[in-house]
Amino acid sequence: MIKKILAFVLALAVAAAALAADAPKAVPKNDHVGAKKCMPCHMKIYKAWTEVRHAHAFEGLKATTPEQLKAMNELLKTDVKEKPETAAVCVGCHVTGYKQPGGYHPAAGSLKNAALAFVGCELCHGPGSQHMAVPIND
Ligand code: HEC
Ligand code: HEC
Ligand code: HEC
Repeated sequence: MIKKILAFVLALAVAAAALAADAPKAVPKNDHVGAKKCMPCHMKIYKAWTEVRHAHAFEGLKATTPEQLKAMNELLKTDVKEKPETAAVCVGCHVTGYKQPGGYHPAAGSLKNAALAFVGCELCHGPGSQHMAVPIND
């Protein structure tokens, strides 16, 4: 009798496992991954991108000269005095996914931010984690 019950319980467990395997998986949220992650599969486009100023937009911001700061402040009607690379009003256009899920965030770790400190692929194409997981279906 005990053996029969055990066999039945085992059969139930196997059926449950099979059902679980068939159940649709929860869709993972789509996060920013950084341009370097796109490189292995999109080598030519990645290389072309590194050669345009989009790839250096944050470096350019960090290197803002006083004249450029004055001009940008006039253009944007802002009053940023120093370190534009920390001023939200400037950073938003010079990085990828500013304050978006998984994007560049003032409070994020410096490694994560470094991977997004430019006008990267995902600013135009959207966060890439889901595409990377199933690239063929994009
Ligand atoms: C593991 C390889 C792989 C990685 C990594 C990858 N891709 Fe792709 N990507 C592909 C393949 C393969 C296609 C072509 C899919 C197709 O035509 O159906 C593609 C197509 C695309 C397209 C064109 C889609 C279309 O509808 O024409 C864009 C845009 C793109 N990828 C952007 C990105 C970005 C941005 C990243 C980094 C966040 C990235 N890819 C990372 C493999 C990859
Ligand atoms: C609305 C988006 C936007 C905002 C906000 C913005 N920028 Fe820019 N910035 C750009 C674009 C686009 C360019 C490239 C313009 C061009 O080449 O004509 C640029 C270029 C620059 C450059 C030249 C970089 C280089 O490599 O030559 C500097 C410096 C700069 N911005 C500083 C700032 C500062 C300082 C602020 C804040 C006061 C700021 N930006 C805010 C979009 C923005
Ligand atoms: C400033 C916006 C912008 C950035 C940054 C950008 N792209 Fe694109 N990308 C585009 C546009 C616009 C197209 C053309 C779409 C079309 O013709 O349908 C395109 C096309 C593509 C395509 C498909 C067409 C092709 O020529 O094969 C891929 C793949 C792609 N981009 C990947 C990337 C990757 C990887 C990066 C970063 C290294 C990147 N893109 C950065 C805007 C951008």
